[in-house]
Amino acid sequence: MFEVIFLPEGKRVTVPEGTTLMAAAIKGEVDIATICGGKSFCGKCLVEVIEGELSPITDVELKRIPPEKVKKGYRFACQAQVKGNVTIRVPDQSRVGRQRLVIMGKEPPIKIRSNVEKVYLEMDPPTLHDTVADDIRLYAALGSKGILNARLDYRTGTKITEMLRTANWKSTAVVLGGKEVIGIEAGDTRKRSFGVAVDIGTTKLAVFIVDLIDGGIAFADGMMNPQIRFGEDVISRINYAAQGERELGDVQKTIINGINELIEKGLAETGIDRRELYELVAVGNTAMHHLFVGVDTKSLGLSPYPAGLGRAYDIKARDMEIAINQSGNVHVLPNIAGFVGADAIADALACRLHEKEKLTLLMDVGTNTEVMLGSRDGIWSCSTASGPAFEGAHIKNGMRAASGAVEKVRIADDEVSCKTIDDDKARGICGSGIIDALAEMLKCGALDTSGKLVEGHKGVRVTPAGKEYVLVPKEETSSGKEDIVVSQDDVREIQKAKAAMFGGYMTLMRKSGHPTTDLNEIIIAGAFGNYIDPASARILGMIPEVPLDRISFTGNTAGSGARICLKSLDMRREATEVADKMKYIELAAEPVFMEEYINAMYMPNSRLNMFPETVETIKAPKVVRVYVSK
Ligand code: FES
Repeated sequence: MFEVIFLPEGKRVTVPEGTTLMAAAIKGEVDIATICGGKSFCGKCLVEVIEGELSPITDVELKRIPPEKVKKGYRFACQAQVKGNVTIRVPDQSRVGRQRLVIMGKEPPIKIRSNVEKVYLEMDPPTLHDTVADDIRLYAALGSKGILNARLDYRTGTKITEMLRTANWKSTAVVLGGKEVIGIEAGDTRKRSFGVAVDIGTTKLAVFIVDLIDGGIAFADGMMNPQIRFGEDVISRINYAAQGERELGDVQKTIINGINELIEKGLAETGIDRRELYELVAVGNTAMHHLFVGVDTKSLGLSPYPAGLGRAYDIKARDMEIAINQSGNVHVLPNIAGFVGADAIADALACRLHEKEKLTLLMDVGTNTEVMLGSRDGIWSCSTASGPAFEGAHIKNGMRAASGAVEKVRIADDEVSCKTIDDDKARGICGSGIIDALAEMLKCGALDTSGKLVEGHKGVRVTPAGKEYVLVPKEETSSGKEDIVVSQDDVREIQKAKAAMFGGYMTLMRKSGHPTTDLNEIIIAGAFGNYIDPASARILGMIPEVPLDRISFTGNTAGSGARICLKSLDMRREATEVADKMKYIELAAEPVFMEEYINAMYMPNSRLNMFPETVETIKAPKVVRVYVSK
């Protein structure tokens, strides 16, 4: 066993030989950034080795770490393995920081009709002349209230004798779906009923404790999805879980532990008893859904990427070790396809997409962007791989939306002004910042519409590594050592991400047979969407050009969808209807997607006539080449 000391906090961890510095950091709860989940391509986990023995530097590190840093002893924490006692310094730029998490979203008003019904019963105790069994006595009392054919959950059944007597035969039966008695509470508790709604995002996890009597939220909190240690993106986690049952179990246990931790926190804050939580409704993309339920995800990683479970399911809480009443129910919403899951259904339900009179585009922007286009006449959906760049991956100075991230950029008369999260000294750029930066660079002419930085423009400089635009000079950054820049490669990454989103939208538009002029409204859901400046997103051509007052941001509507399905059986029925109605389009099978993707690589698009207003605002040289497939 060897000791690893992490500076500047001086945290000490003892680990066996061969442990990576990242694993040691996780053990010691030392905050080190990772976006690729240890696959050595994000470069965010850079640490400085002060002293000690580690495994030899790898070829990937030599390729990705600048030579001057290699000389100073910098390593990737995910690659370097402990071979003796070591002391490490974690630089400021390699810290995750407390990420800004948006967990709330717009919720439509609904009528509460919970799956959990409470029925107050007063029963006569048994006598020598009336020796009817306790369960039969309970069933008769329920029958007198119109609940026929309900049966006891077996674990509740094992406690019935004690429960009825402690309650002095005046008790409240908790009935699930009119069929199963999952609890017996002493006295009349009809005024108290709670449930849990969970949104499992690839990046973040949100948990809500909901009052099922008045519909209010008793507790809401979130955390980074703890599965991040198995990889930042869905595919890394699918691959990890695919190694075997133990690995699948690890990933499942990790998310359940995260949910349980937040429930625990909620119970402590609200004073609600765990046994009062009789139901939990969860949503997530298909991979998150499967990894939560414990379904083999191998098929999600292989073409044609079918989902294992497409319908809604009910599972006993005790079978999943979820920390609610162990006789309670876990309900998961249906999935549409391998990459459009229950969270998209939840978004559509919460935004009432299936009730819109006019054609509406709903995008849940995250690590993957779910794109839905529809109205009450029908809904088309697809999924695009947009996310890692918006989360800061593959971006030279990219970082998540945490303290010190540049989140807003304005360029006036070639002077750049940046706003950072928490107004801290700049540490990097987050997704909304880079979208703003590119839009402003286009407007001022530092970037042309094909995505090339314009040499000779103020702010654009040429380095041995290529062209870059300086956003924050080093003197104003938190490290004081390096300028924060947008590199030519960064521009390409964002172009690819936004082209995937727009290409997905255009493919749906063409499949639906609607002309683009039919689009009436855009709804942007998801935590990331909340911070995007719609004007900047339009300039880049991430979203189509509709008037700004018809673009709305709804926040975490996947969480809202989970809550309304927890509160209302009618919403669960609608969820199934929406799932049946939604037509999924697999972009890999659509040649028009590639055509639209290539055209959307231009900013805003090579079809400039689709962006007449935007084009007016762009000073940059307009380089366009419209691509039409055969
Ligand atoms: S390079 Fe180490 S976590 Fe990405």
